[in-house]
Amino acid sequence: MEFFLDTASLEEIREAAKWGVVSGVTTNPTLMAREGDVEFSEIIKEICDIIDGPISAEVVSVKAEDMIEEARPISKWHPNVVVKIPMTPDGLQAIKVLSSEGIKINTTLIFTANQALLAAQAGAYIVSPFVGRLDDISEDGMQVIRDTVQIFNNYGITTKVLAASIRHPRHITEAAKAGAHIATMPLSVLKQAMKHPLTDIGLERFLKDWEKYRQAQGTKESAGGKTAGRARGAVRT
Ligand code: G3P
Repeated sequence: MEFFLDTASLEEIREAAKWGVVSGVTTNPTLMAREGDVEFSEIIKEICDIIDGPISAEVVSVKAEDMIEEARPISKWHPNVVVKIPMTPDGLQAIKVLSSEGIKINTTLIFTANQALLAAQAGAYIVSPFVGRLDDISEDGMQVIRDTVQIFNNYGITTKVLAASIRHPRHITEAAKAGAHIATMPLSVLKQAMKHPLTDIGLERFLKDWEKYRQAQGTKESAGGKTAGRARGAVRT
């Protein structure tokens, strides 16, 4: 499963890019608005310069013909741009037209497997069920991912299933177990997924033990005049 970052913050994207595990970025109008007075196209182009993978940029039109007119120039900002279209009847109509022109579409605001199937039939490259927002209303968001993956596998549908609205590391594990192709998450969740208290405790102990060993070696050297600096590889752990 690929890791995407769900943000429009260049600072966050630069930070995460260093770890070498982020293969794409998803943005939406809320995330763009958080960045303040910035040019939408410039931000997307800058993101494309940082991450070499699919970068989702969403339309804000609601009528099919307006979505199509808005999506065409967005798709030309960079070869990696994937246009995000909401899962509505107008959205489906726009997906059909745009995908037939070779424009890659990420269908957003998906909350059922049926919506995912319909978006795939219209030609979507990615479908994005929102796991966290379903959990927020006491639904089982991950079930939509499981169902969608199963249905796509049943019919050999190649549209990618992207688990969106990821809220915590458990969602990442569950999405991967369900066979999602991609999970998009905020930087905070990606950071949480890297951490474990036992990793920190274990590292602290290794370093303390190493320091103790170094000090003991130093004492021996000053007492017996032995050669300093044994190779680290010679130490048993
Ligand atoms: O980008 C779409 C989705 O990931 C948004 O998540 O946290 O706003 O429900 P959230």
